[in-house]
Amino acid sequence: MKDSVIFYIFLILVHISCSKNKTDPPLPCQENPSFDLEIKNIFIDNCMSCHNSSTNFAGVVLEDYSSILLNVDHSIEEIQNGTMPPSGIIDDTLISAINCWIQNGMPNN
Ligand code: HEC
Repeated sequence: MKDSVIFYIFLILVHISCSKNKTDPPLPCQENPSFDLEIKNIFIDNCMSCHNSSTNFAGVVLEDYSSILLNVDHSIEEIQNGTMPPSGIIDDTLISAINCWIQNGMPNN
């Protein structure tokens, strides 16, 4: 009985230490993501409900290539800090795709 309690405590500690940490570095960049097929959809799915031309909290619009280009530096910071979207940090693979797109010069591809 005592052993199983210790085992559960161990599992909980392992779980906590493996949980997503806000300061994790971005995953390495392995490809050139397409703005049209990938990047745009990340912003549409996670950000556009609050950041479009009629509803734009903090004056930030993220709805098409030019508005995303304008706000991407600030946006990637907010995403990596876990402050945007307000519902919680988005998946690492999506953050990595945005970072790769930035590293590739933010093409409209
Ligand atoms: C549910 C609504 C909502 C969603 C979804 C949302 N935001 Fe925001 N966003 C806000 C609000 C409200 C503010 C202004 C208050 C604040 O800064 O917390 C804001 C502010 C910002 C700012 C400016 C922050 C500052 O301090 O000047 C940026 C950049 C931003 N959001 C980017 C994003 C990105 C990128 C996404 C998607 C990954 C996103 N937001 C999704 C509501 C939202």
